[in-house]
Amino acid sequence: MSETDLKSIGELAALCKRRGFIFQSSEVYGGLGSCWDYGPLGVELKRNIKERWWQSMTYRDDIEGVDAAILMHPTVWKASGHIDGFSDPLVDCRECKARFREDLIDTAKACPNCGNKGTFTEPREFNLMFKTQMGAVESESSTVFLRPETAQGIFVNFLNVQSTMRKKLPFGIAQIGKAFRNEITPGNFIFRTREFEQMEMQYFIKPGMQGEEMERWKEIRYQWHLDNGLRPDRLQWAPHPADKLAHYADAATDIEYKFPMGWGEMEGIHSRTDFDLKQHQEFSGKNLSYVDQADNNKRYIPYVIETSVGCDRTLLAVLADAYRVEFAGDKERERVVLKIHPELAPNKVAVLPLMKKGELMERSDRIVSNLRKKFKTDYDVAGSIGKRYRRQDEIGTPFCVTVDYDTLEDQAVTVRHRDSMQQTRVAINKLEEYINQQM
Ligand code: GAP
Repeated sequence: MSETDLKSIGELAALCKRRGFIFQSSEVYGGLGSCWDYGPLGVELKRNIKERWWQSMTYRDDIEGVDAAILMHPTVWKASGHIDGFSDPLVDCRECKARFREDLIDTAKACPNCGNKGTFTEPREFNLMFKTQMGAVESESSTVFLRPETAQGIFVNFLNVQSTMRKKLPFGIAQIGKAFRNEITPGNFIFRTREFEQMEMQYFIKPGMQGEEMERWKEIRYQWHLDNGLRPDRLQWAPHPADKLAHYADAATDIEYKFPMGWGEMEGIHSRTDFDLKQHQEFSGKNLSYVDQADNNKRYIPYVIETSVGCDRTLLAVLADAYRVEFAGDKERERVVLKIHPELAPNKVAVLPLMKKGELMERSDRIVSNLRKKFKTDYDVAGSIGKRYRRQDEIGTPFCVTVDYDTLEDQAVTVRHRDSMQQTRVAINKLEEYINQQM
């Protein structure tokens, strides 16, 4: 048996469309650039990723969850620095009118689009926030923004969470939600889009603890990606050089994944100092400091370590990592298989009756409804058993349960494992236990 990995993002995008993971947004109208809709299997995979993150980050003593509004008071973005500083430098080619991010091309060289030299305009700052209007009257004062990061919903709720949940430092606040950026160069399928989901956690600490806490969170977050089954040789650290730090950070490092188009950021871990809370204190006029009872009731603004991972990018990495084409000699036995971590797989089990016949179907119906009490279970009765296995392999279902005529005699089914393709006979009344053990 030999196997090959994913060769291009296009190959994955084709599978995602063919098998109901991800569709182009508004496809019937020709699509909307870099916007994507998650289909039935994509939404399951995404929910599983979010659930795993939520459990690992909030099922503990020191972190609470929130779900803040996307629309926030416009002054939030003034305070956070996003109105003045969240921009990319843009240049236009005077000949062909193509637009580029200045930091991504060499403006001394020819235009990558039309090949003309010396045609670029001076760079202009382009703010990445989407603007919209609140209420019926359009005016400067009714302008609100779609949040470009979920983090600010956490900062402005720092005292609400601290006081209602009686938290002592260090503690964290976690959130999963949509963020929007009017990216100049979106692309590579769901890697860079204008609407995406973030899973962010702000960990509030005593000033001076940031070095130690940053190291601790780096390890925890890296391990999370390994626990999702990502191949270790496809993960790496990418520390930010001091001159490239975001306006709010005194240290930062990314966790990168080796996508088919190259290494790309999946998660950012930032030491955000007391920048955000201080800014919100100044702009709101409210005291956002913390009284440290463990240190003689000293009052100070906490420092923050932030972990921020893109949900869509994690999903892209999980799919790219899992994708294999396996060959067993002849073309007949070639299969595409998604070796996704069983806990992330959209369907955990598929029940496949060998024939679409009375007694077998009745037995299969009962097995399916029992399994569905515990697992997301597909029920596929159409086509040859070989084709049905291939279909389940391509969508990453870890276990296929075949119901055959022997089942009616021995009250057992055949469980076929996705990765090894090995088959085991399991008693129906032990099926749930068996699948749980194998997950
Ligand atoms: N609160 C900090 C923050 O937003 P970031 O490094 O700009 O930091 C964090 O974003 C993560 O959000 C990235 O590592 C990436 O996974 C995801 N992300 C950012 N921009 C994105 C985009 N345009 N499309 C998809 N995911 C994006």
